[in-house]
Amino acid sequence: MSTQTIRPARTLNGSLTLPGDKSISHRYAMLAGLAEGVTRLSNFSTGADPHSTLACMTALGASVATQPDGAIAITGTAGHLRQPEGNLDCGNSGSTMRMLAGLIASHPHTFVLTGDPSLSARPMERIRKPLAQMGAEIHLTGGDGALGGHAPITVVGHPLTAIDFTVPIPSAQVKTAVLFAGLEAQGVTSLSEAIRTRDHTEHALKAFGATLTRSGSASSGTASSRTTKISIRGGQRLRAVDATVPGDLSSAAFFLAASLLFPDSHLVLDALGMNPTRSALLDVVSGLGAKIRVLNVEEQHGELVGTIQVNANPNARRLTQPFEISGPLAAQLIDEIPVLAAIAPYTRSGIRIRDARELRIKESDRIDLVARNLRAMGAELTEFDDGLDIPGNQQLHGAEIDSGHDHRIAMAFSVASLRAASDTAIHGAEAAAISFPEFFTCLDRLALR
Ligand code: S3P
Repeated sequence: MSTQTIRPARTLNGSLTLPGDKSISHRYAMLAGLAEGVTRLSNFSTGADPHSTLACMTALGASVATQPDGAIAITGTAGHLRQPEGNLDCGNSGSTMRMLAGLIASHPHTFVLTGDPSLSARPMERIRKPLAQMGAEIHLTGGDGALGGHAPITVVGHPLTAIDFTVPIPSAQVKTAVLFAGLEAQGVTSLSEAIRTRDHTEHALKAFGATLTRSGSASSGTASSRTTKISIRGGQRLRAVDATVPGDLSSAAFFLAASLLFPDSHLVLDALGMNPTRSALLDVVSGLGAKIRVLNVEEQHGELVGTIQVNANPNARRLTQPFEISGPLAAQLIDEIPVLAAIAPYTRSGIRIRDARELRIKESDRIDLVARNLRAMGAELTEFDDGLDIPGNQQLHGAEIDSGHDHRIAMAFSVASLRAASDTAIHGAEAAAISFPEFFTCLDRLALR
């Protein structure tokens, strides 16, 4: 386990191009492996998680090569995944395990999906249930506890039949598992979600040549609570694409949050993914006091990509209440809540988080770890089953931070440490490499001492 010492900073200044989005990289890698032809992906995520997906796709018969310019070339299986020789090791990646289960469920082989201790404790009943309704044979391990079964998972491939499914929890991973299974099921699979989750799967399927329809979606794509229904006909074939993965907005979140800590910070982020189902973060960061300018927006395979300039806003309105993250916004910001919570004590009005119980079953119990680590830094806060109340205007001191082997906790507390009164030790800092191996180098470059 490695420890990183973070020294307090004076300000944050500079520009950055983020490595490719983790969510989009997973989806492109899976669909490329299923497609016919050679897919070329530039700016593929450097995180360990999407590389777990690439390794699984290789085990399933795709071939993956890195080109001289760093792009990844994936030769697909033209719809014929093969029987892997061993287990499909999903590492720490919930996205790999849940989405892959849907992708492989109709292929006539037996697959065993395994993961590290963190992933092996996470709930998998949420994907087993709809896939079983489609005719899939999926055996989970355990299942007596409150969360139901978990990995290792055995999937025995069978022909699938379309279903009309309403997702009981807002989860893009569950949605994706069902749509990927629907791609090869007999009939038209429909999926409804009351809270709109990230829609990279829908865009990626279209990019690879599939047709799907969506109805009832809100035009803005922000925290909407109107039900969206997505339908996909089975039996469609995919063709390879040439694509560039947009920069990862969830990785950018650490620097956006850091920019809120200093009144004279200035940050430029290029080629950043700004999909409306992810970009509520930008509204939150401006609500908390930053001035954000969006430039050069263009669409690439359905995904919005652009440049943002971020400055502290001296004229920002002072909030009379704590900033509230709850309801659909909590679901849409689920990956960014740890860093927003970690900087909350430094904000003027504090942050109130609710409806975020899912955070307890991510790579770690993120509510518990945020609360424990903030308290170690001297913060006052109240913990709830589904969130936190974190008052603002607090001064924190350096501390010993436990990442809990969770990448987002390691990075969130590295950011909080920039404004602490003394040095902070982040234990388990290597976890950052799960999504963002370059994080500490980038932070060191942007944080001026
Ligand atoms: C993801 C969906 C979210 C998110 C995860 C990535 C995706 O998980 O937390 O980091 O790529 O679809 P849930 O589907 O469990 O909400």
